[in-house]
Amino acid sequence: MLEIKKAEKQFGERTVFSGVSFSAEAGETACIVGPSGCGKTTLLRAVAGLVPLSDGTVLLDGEDITSWKAEQRPVVLLFQEALLFPQLTVLENIAYGLKYGRRKLGRRARLAESRAMLQKIEMEQWENAYPVELSGGQKQRVALARALVLKPKLLLLDEPFSSLDASLRQSLRTWVRSFLREEEVTSLFVTHDKEEAVMMSDRLIVMKDGAVQQQGTPETVYHQPENRAAADVIGDGLYDERFIPASSLTIGAADGYSGIIEHPQFMHGYRFYRVNVPSLKQTVVVLSDTLYEEGEAVKLSVTEEKENGAL
Ligand SMILES: Nc1ncnc2c1ncn2[C@@H]1O[C@H](COP(=O)(O)OP(=O)(O)OP(=O)(O)O)[C@@H](O)[C@H]1O
Ligand SMILES: [Mg+2]
Repeated sequence: MLEIKKAEKQFGERTVFSGVSFSAEAGETACIVGPSGCGKTTLLRAVAGLVPLSDGTVLLDGEDITSWKAEQRPVVLLFQEALLFPQLTVLENIAYGLKYGRRKLGRRARLAESRAMLQKIEMEQWENAYPVELSGGQKQRVALARALVLKPKLLLLDEPFSSLDASLRQSLRTWVRSFLREEEVTSLFVTHDKEEAVMMSDRLIVMKDGAVQQQGTPETVYHQPENRAAADVIGDGLYDERFIPASSLTIGAADGYSGIIEHPQFMHGYRFYRVNVPSLKQTVVVLSDTLYEEGEAVKLSVTEEKENGAL
């Protein structure tokens, strides 16, 4: 459905990225994960036609849309902020694009389709509310409905949950993930959050230092980062010529990597320690039930090799 070939973008003399190639099948969510400033938003804007690529091709549903104007492209971009029209009700916000956009419908059809969409996002009772009356998560659901009512061939999402608090982000991710799957929406999602990337994607693309470092299923990329850059972005472990998953590391053995305990972390009922390993200039979070002090020097040893990080 979507194929990006050798995409390159320069601003003046500066190359933001080059040689970016990947594809997504119909109904799939491809996710680009990378640090701030690696060009994620720029790439999405280029796919939407809002900025030209310096080089490369964008194919959508078999058609080369590289030089199409933004308004001709059957894609919708969803931003970090919901950006609803404050003077319009929820229903009017959803219906808006059907009046002026690529899919022009009469008033009755507009309202019927918008109401159906409102039902899908489980917000029927908010039809006549104004955006100011909604929570952050509700606003993002309305923004999603407003995008999907246009039946785009491709939905572009630019860190749509980053303005929400942690627990809301978590529940909205799950909701959006199953919504996109049920509706079989092809989407390209960008984030700098690795947990979000692994959870949301069918296909994961790691971008860093102006290039794609690795791509594959979220399972593969998470458990087997191929290089240091990919490991920095996505991995939980250490990279020392090869990737050593955190699940293979033990604190407290007589020898191994010298590390310094930074602080404990409590998750899912377990105690972990964030350990700094100066020789590798990396930090890693390791499970341990022993008590350590902050600043304590420890050794991290590699226990047995575990396939795919599984215990
Ligand atoms: N219109 C522009 N003119 C010049 N430079 C730009 C322009 N837009 C973006 N850049 C530069 O391109 C680089 C990539 O920016 P971009 O916003 O795509 O990063 P990002 O990966 O989305 O980061 P973040 O995670 O912080 O949103 C940055 O260095 C930015 O300064
Ligand atoms: Mg961005």
